[in-house]
Amino acid sequence: MHKLDGLPERVTVYEVGPRDGLQNEKAVIPVEVKAEFIDRLAAAGHTVIETTSFVHPKWVPQLADSGELLAMLQRRPGIRYPVLVPNLKGLDRALESGVEEIAVFASATETFANRNLNRGLESQFEMFEPVIAGALEHGLKVRAYVSMVFGDPWEGPTPIEQVVGVGARLLDLGCFELSLGDTIGVGTPGHATALVEAFGSPERLAVHFHDTYGQALANTMAALKAGVTVVDASTGGIGGCPFAGSATGNLATEDLVWMLNGLGIETGLNLDELVATSVWLAERLGRPSPSRVVQALSQKALSQKD
Ligand code: HMG
Ligand code: MG
Repeated sequence: MHKLDGLPERVTVYEVGPRDGLQNEKAVIPVEVKAEFIDRLAAAGHTVIETTSFVHPKWVPQLADSGELLAMLQRRPGIRYPVLVPNLKGLDRALESGVEEIAVFASATETFANRNLNRGLESQFEMFEPVIAGALEHGLKVRAYVSMVFGDPWEGPTPIEQVVGVGARLLDLGCFELSLGDTIGVGTPGHATALVEAFGSPERLAVHFHDTYGQALANTMAALKAGVTVVDASTGGIGGCPFAGSATGNLATEDLVWMLNGLGIETGLNLDELVATSVWLAERLGRPSPSRVVQALSQKALSQKD
């Protein structure tokens, strides 16, 4: 283990596997498998697991079972189980399921707002404002995402001030945290540093990097150096957004934890248990995990058995 100056002592890994990871899966995954997956993540030390979405079931059929899943899930004390909520209909459904934390998800670009939310850059706020206010009235915590922070497949590079404009507005509405989403994984470390710095303070920021171009870990390192301490990641690197064709998996939780362990940064996570969960899930999804660390450690475990 070798520490580096200028990095945090501890990082919160915000696990998005059950939501971002599974939302793009075509074959229906049984609700019991989802519940077991989430419980395995909790057992491996996760303290925050984004569990599902209360979006329109026709838009994301894989997560149409969100109510059933939450009813089945044995929620452990001290663990946060946030869910995505786009609108008041989604908030009502989430409240019925007894959720304590939600996340709204905005776009930094006009085209993705239209594709993902069926409304424009400005009108997305008409949808989110009552959701955030209603959730806060019910005592819920509200996280916010802003997507396409570095670039968008239709519009090209996203101007930094456009991202800060959308993000700052969400924070002003009362969201406790803003997660910066590189939905299509096009960012590079200098861009990540510039974006975090443009917000003025990293304190309420999290990062959410997809690994399409293999830059997610490098961008995470840049964000950590700029003061961010909350990093979104997905079990085994699964995931993607159904409304952005070029989006692939998120930063793999195991790749992140390998790097953080090597740097002596605490996460409270048990890497062996995370890898075992990824291998277990990959068997259920019918294909190997894209995570390099999962591949390396599961191969090693197999060769030691021989
Ligand atoms: P819409 O069709 O514009 O909604 O969808 P509407 O308000 O016009 O309502 C139409 C009908 O849908 C109505 O039914 C509503 O009741 C129903 P009708 O009266 O006609 O019978 N409806 C709902 N039903 C159940 N649950 C709901 C709901 N809302 C409306 N919540 C909406 C607008 C936003 C709902 C739709 O566009 C949607 O569900 N989008 C979801 C998109 C999504 O889930 N994307 C993936 C997650 S975002 C992501 O992955 C990026 C992220 O990871 C960060 C990053 O990587 O950058 C977070
Ligand atoms: Mg995402």
